[in-house]
Amino acid sequence: MEMSSRIVIVDYGSQYTFLIGRRLRSEIGVWCEIISPSQLHSVKAENTGGVIFSGGPKSVGALSFRAEERRVIEDPDLPVLGVCYGMQLIATVLGATVQKGSQGEFGPTKILNLNGEKEMILKLNGEKEIVWMSHHDVVQEDIKETGAVVTATSPAGVAAFYHPRSECTAVQWHPEVKHTVNGTQFLWSWIQDKTKAQLGRWDGQARLERCMDIIRETITDDDRVVLGLSGGVDSMVTAALLNKALKPDQWMAVYVDHGMMRDHETEEVQETCKALDIPLKVVNPSEDFLIHLKQIRESEHKRRLIGTLFIQAFSSATSEFKPTHLAQGTIYPDVVESAKADNSGKGSTQHIIKSHHNVGGLPKELGLELLEPLKWLFKDEVRDIGRQLGLPAKVIGRHPFPGPGLAVRCLGEVTEQKVSIVQRADKIFLDAIREAGLYDEISQAYAALLDCKAVGVVGDQRREGWIVCLRAVCTEDFMTANIYPFDMRWLEEVGATIINRCSEIARVMYDVSSKPPGTIELE
Ligand code: XMP
Repeated sequence: MEMSSRIVIVDYGSQYTFLIGRRLRSEIGVWCEIISPSQLHSVKAENTGGVIFSGGPKSVGALSFRAEERRVIEDPDLPVLGVCYGMQLIATVLGATVQKGSQGEFGPTKILNLNGEKEMILKLNGEKEIVWMSHHDVVQEDIKETGAVVTATSPAGVAAFYHPRSECTAVQWHPEVKHTVNGTQFLWSWIQDKTKAQLGRWDGQARLERCMDIIRETITDDDRVVLGLSGGVDSMVTAALLNKALKPDQWMAVYVDHGMMRDHETEEVQETCKALDIPLKVVNPSEDFLIHLKQIRESEHKRRLIGTLFIQAFSSATSEFKPTHLAQGTIYPDVVESAKADNSGKGSTQHIIKSHHNVGGLPKELGLELLEPLKWLFKDEVRDIGRQLGLPAKVIGRHPFPGPGLAVRCLGEVTEQKVSIVQRADKIFLDAIREAGLYDEISQAYAALLDCKAVGVVGDQRREGWIVCLRAVCTEDFMTANIYPFDMRWLEEVGATIINRCSEIARVMYDVSSKPPGTIELE
């Protein structure tokens, strides 16, 4: 794919930046890359078809701009689209004023489309459009004095403009959010009418070729590759790619069963790998893990310890194979987030947040070169490759499962008994969800065990037992999430089944916290 046909998205910190990327790639079929503002110096008309400045949390008081932003905005050969904060940034660079409005606009908002018939201005579908807004600051009318044409207004004032001299289009709303009724069409027409990017070129075949190229460019005939396989969609797709690209004796997958997997998980992973001819080695040091975890109650401590033990088990399982490369199922959001942490100067805190999400990721001390064939892809693109490579639907649609497994779903100290309770409760909950046909509607669901007991009554007897917490969330990116609104009667039945079948459990609760302020896992 030629660089000049890509769209570059400059990330100013909006929670929707990844959504812009996914709409462009999956729905419009355009190759795009997300960069931080400090990387703008590499963006030139020769290597970029168009630039999108994303939204972001900064406010008018903090609005200043870099020389590189001015260069990109003023270059008529680099078409720019500003979204929300991006629009305000463009207005500032062009010399207009941005002020806090008398009212904020949040959520669905009606805008008046002033496009008329003027062909140089982007066309929206109707005269009145419903768009998704999230702003308090407003670009002022003096934008017209810069040579821009105001193309839409909202109750708060200027809602969009087009600046022909610099080839800048700017909208206050978020076209990437589904609540903006014609959002994807808007992005599509901006790309088609204003940029040099080629629509429809980034498709399933292009994705697969890109992954295969990464493997072929990194691995020579003398190299040997090991993959830490968790059974999740990213590592399974990585395994299927390695199987396609490499000779069978050139690579192996290692699955470390730390004893805190879900019910029958290890067997299922083995069966899937067998069906796909994936060379798999299963190691089971679960006793070691449980002995070391004794009396450890704090979640980060558990995670670090499991990480260390995992690395030991992985190294000893692979040392004879003499690997040169470690394959990982790192995907694009991980890469972008890590780069952001490196660039922010606040890397340390962000890295801590990330490191616990990469327990299966093995450190530099192993002395292996990294191979990350999925590092350019979003999750839905990874799933698409999985489909092309014939992975079963069950694997492709699988809810994520944390590397430390049920250890972070047994609050406080992890014991064999607690793991067994949570495995059984989790199976009942997930089987019921599957039976009700809800599995694919929910992004992640599980049962966890609280670190305390409660009193219940069974027959005529009072009985003390454990408390299970059920959690089910819907999310697009796992950064924010809403709870799944189960029918109460259904939930009641599931709770009763769990208590009836697991005599150690006295109570079942449903977690109604969204993220934020909650996280998806309890620990
Ligand atoms: P939180 O709990 O931070 O989780 O809202 C967001 C997503 O990350 C998963 N998660 C983990 N994955 N190791 C992992 O591999 C971990 O330690 C870990 N903690 C959370 C979580 O399941 C959810 O999908």
